[in-house]
Amino acid sequence: MAGKLSRRSAGVDPFIVMDVMAAAADKEAAGDVVIHLEVGQPSTPAPKKALEAAHAALDADRIGYVAALGMPALRERIARHYRETYGAEVAPDRVIVTTGSSGGFPLAFLASFDAGDRVALAAPGYPAYRNILAALNLEAVDLPTSAEDRFQPTVAALEKAGPLDGLIVASPSNPTGTMVTRGELKALADWCNANGVRLISDEIYHGIVYEGETHSAVEVSDTAIVVNSFSKYFSMTGWRVGWLVVPPDMVRPIERLTQNFFISVPTLSQHAALAAFECRDELDGHVQRYRTNRDLLTAGLPAAGLDRLTPAQGAFYIYADVSHLTNDSRDFCSRMLREAGVATTPGIDFDRARGAGTLRISFAGSTAEMEEAVRRLKQWRRL
Ligand SMILES: Cc1ncc(COP(=O)(O)O)c(C=O)c1O
Repeated sequence: MAGKLSRRSAGVDPFIVMDVMAAAADKEAAGDVVIHLEVGQPSTPAPKKALEAAHAALDADRIGYVAALGMPALRERIARHYRETYGAEVAPDRVIVTTGSSGGFPLAFLASFDAGDRVALAAPGYPAYRNILAALNLEAVDLPTSAEDRFQPTVAALEKAGPLDGLIVASPSNPTGTMVTRGELKALADWCNANGVRLISDEIYHGIVYEGETHSAVEVSDTAIVVNSFSKYFSMTGWRVGWLVVPPDMVRPIERLTQNFFISVPTLSQHAALAAFECRDELDGHVQRYRTNRDLLTAGLPAAGLDRLTPAQGAFYIYADVSHLTNDSRDFCSRMLREAGVATTPGIDFDRARGAGTLRISFAGSTAEMEEAVRRLKQWRRL
């Protein structure tokens, strides 16, 4: 007899973009050149001073375990980042270093919720939220959003969602690149406080902004949990280092969880992350390139029939409505890959109800790749 398989793992959906990446790899193995607009990561390595710090640490440090909550110097540097960037005072004790923001989510969810609790999130949204919630026996409650509210949760949507224990907000959002204003974030935070709902603010795309200003939940709430990472603005995906900012009464519970789950976050990566704060010029240069890429796609894609684009205020994604071209975004994306050699992500990854009519285009690559993508897609649509 086969051994038992858990129901909680059976409820976790696959990440469809991984299937796209596998199909793109097959095409490349067959000798074709694929333009990768499906990837959700910077095309650049860690910034120079971060790499130097990592080399120096390899020579000088044993790279053993460090404190479960993170290296004190890194926690202090992150706290300083809140003063410099948002004018907000955050005590270093409230900063918890995590294994990417992905390592922060289970800690935040376990410290905030009990099995069966209900957590609201915007649809479309980053799929791992709901999948991690499902694995922890928590209920993800979709808040359907629209272009009018910039695909962000609203108090009106929360009022209609039934009893809630948590709310996840992501600004700038993956997959839409849209943001909440300070006033909107405060309204959501105030509603959460009034209703005993824990706000979790995913700020991983802060720093990658083209229009408007990013505001951190620490500016408007004492009870929110902030999730952030070195993966996107700091261009350090594979280093697996991120952080949480939590209210003081959550530090000790999360310390106990992270001691047992992870012991500590990769030490070498923490050395590198500390130095990454001194690399603003290099990192802002990447943001300039993303902006150029965004403008190029926004101007070029309509001629290829992709003319219903969500204006990306931040992050490196354009969410395209393709419901006039297909009712099966998965099939549309695989044809685009097969016939035009351009890989994109079908919307069903982000919105199970409406994603068959949408796709996500990432512009994290080089500007030459964006130009080539537009050229290929125009030709493809003419065929
Ligand atoms: C919105 C959002 N949050 C979190 C993550 C997880 O990133 P990491 O674990 O590398 O910090 C991603 C990755 O794409 C993301 O898009």
